[in-house]
Amino acid sequence: MEEINKNNLPKHIAITMDGNGRWAKSKGKLRIFGHNNGVKAVRDTVEAAAEIGIEFLTLYAFSTENWNRPSKEVNALMTLLVSAINKETKTLMDNNIKLSTIGDTDILPSKAKKELAEAIDKTKGNTRMTLVLALSYSGRWDILNAVNEITNKGVGNEKITEEQFQQYLSTKSVPDPELLIRTSGEYRISNFLLWQIAYSELYFTDTLWPDFRRANLEKAILDYQSRERRFGKTTEQIQN
Ligand code: IPE
Ligand code: IPE
Ligand code: MG
Repeated sequence: MEEINKNNLPKHIAITMDGNGRWAKSKGKLRIFGHNNGVKAVRDTVEAAAEIGIEFLTLYAFSTENWNRPSKEVNALMTLLVSAINKETKTLMDNNIKLSTIGDTDILPSKAKKELAEAIDKTKGNTRMTLVLALSYSGRWDILNAVNEITNKGVGNEKITEEQFQQYLSTKSVPDPELLIRTSGEYRISNFLLWQIAYSELYFTDTLWPDFRRANLEKAILDYQSRERRFGKTTEQIQN
């Protein structure tokens, strides 16, 4: 197998973890069985990303739109969030990984907020990788939130720059992802990091999230490394 080039790693990888429901259905099980098994994929991917040398990993775990699912499924996902954070804080400590979140987390159930706050506090000194969980997140929420903050601050008639605008997004301390992965064969963004993925490389795989492992992540990174990122320029400009 080809080797990952350590000099051309994405600093930030974002993943839309999709396909838990279909994975469960294919096994004749309830959707929540798929979500439960998605936790193993999260653990393996997080550990692999840190070992490879990725600095930021953002996982889309629950979208603004996911609140519209049947309440039974929403409740089960919130319960799973609490138990997964509780169990996996040790994995984060063992691997020197810092936890953070983006999204409208104020509206999460209080148990989930408490568990998250504890894990964030416990891991705040860790330095190898930052794991960002997108929870109750959507790209439009993020952008509107920024606009509202700017308006409330009364920045006045001055025009603001891209750099200034970015400081109001939930991702202000995270570079834009160079690579966005989506599992389960769906070719859409589903309101994930809209502003931040302006120039991200997109990678789609048919693998359903509960089956995603280190080898799948490595394959995505190798694919990323085979691409020429031109940022509007010509090949000749890039190569000279
Ligand atoms: C992703 O899997 C997990 C969440 C959105 C919370 P899905 O639950 O969307 O699984 P499918 O897409 O129905 O298979
Ligand atoms: C996107 O998956 C959100 C997460 C993975 C958290 P969905 O399964 O909710 O996306 P759509 O609705 O099929 O686009
Ligand atoms: Mg889905």
